[in-house]
Amino acid sequence: MATWSAPGKVFLFGEHAVVYGKPGVAMAIKPRVTVTVRKHRNPPRVRSPYIEECFRSTGVKGSVYIRSQIPSSSGLGSSAAVTTATLAAISDEFDLGFSRDEIARRAFAIEKKAQRGRASPTDTYVTTFGGIVLITGDSKRRLPPQNLHLVIGNSQISHSTAKMVEHVAKERQHNPDIVDPIMDAIGAVTTQAIKSMNKPQQLGKCMDINHALLDALGVGHPVLSKLVLSSRAAGAFGAKLTGAGGGGCMVALCPKHAKSRVAGAIDAMGARSIITTIDTKGIRKE
Ligand code: PMV
Repeated sequence: MATWSAPGKVFLFGEHAVVYGKPGVAMAIKPRVTVTVRKHRNPPRVRSPYIEECFRSTGVKGSVYIRSQIPSSSGLGSSAAVTTATLAAISDEFDLGFSRDEIARRAFAIEKKAQRGRASPTDTYVTTFGGIVLITGDSKRRLPPQNLHLVIGNSQISHSTAKMVEHVAKERQHNPDIVDPIMDAIGAVTTQAIKSMNKPQQLGKCMDINHALLDALGVGHPVLSKLVLSSRAAGAFGAKLTGAGGGGCMVALCPKHAKSRVAGAIDAMGARSIITTIDTKGIRKE
C-alpha cells in the first residue's frame, strides 16, 4: 500500500494572457488530495477517467482510495492533484521509480487525454513541484517562495475553461486592436508583480489591475466582482478572479490579521472561503 498527496493551485497573475505567450504566475496552495494505491489483481472499476488512465498507461492493476480537500471543477487544480498523487502512489507501490519530472510529464499527457486536448501543463507542474511558478511560453521556472496570506472565494458557479479560452480567442479575432493591448497590459502587470512579490501592498495593487483587465477581456462574472469588492472592503491588499473566470474562484491577498475578516465577507455573500498559503512541497509521501 502506498499513500501520496498533492496540493492544489491558484493563478496569481497572467491567466488567459499566458495562452498568448505572456508570462503567468501560479502558486501551489495548502489544500491537498491524498491518494492510496494498493496492488490488486481484480480491482473494483474506477469512474474517474484520470485514475483509469493512470493505471492503463502504467500497465499495473490496483485499487485507489481518494480523500480531497480541493473542491472539484473550481479551477483549483483538483484533477491535476489527483493524477499526480495517483501516479506517485502507483510508482511507489509498484517500484516504477518515476522522477518528479516524469510524473509531471505523464500527468500532463493524462490530463490532455481526459480533457480532449485542452489541458494546460501549468496545473500538473505546479502540483508536482509546489511553490510559486513562472510560466513563459513552454518554459516553467520556480520563483523564490513567499509566505503570502491568501483567501480564496469559491463562487460555486460552474464554468468551463475551454469555453472561456474560446471566448477570449473570438474577442481577439474580432477586436485585435483592443484585445492585444489588454494582453500586453496583463503581461506588464505580471512582470511588475514578479518584482513586487515581497511587497504585499504593491502586489495587491497588481491583483486589482489584473482583475480589471480580465473583466475587460469578458471573463469576469458579477458574483466574482462582488466577492473581489467585499474582500477589498474587508481589508485585503488586493483581489482578483483566478483561473479561467466566468465562475469558479477569486483570490484575495491579505494582511495576516485580516484573513478571517475577508473570509467572513466572502462567506456572507454565499460563497465558500478557503484561508490558505503557499505549499512548497508539491507531491509528498504520506
Ligand atoms: O481554469 P484554470 O484555473 O485551470 O485556469 C486556466 C488558465 C488559462 O490561462 C485561462 C488557460 C491556460 O491554459 O493557461
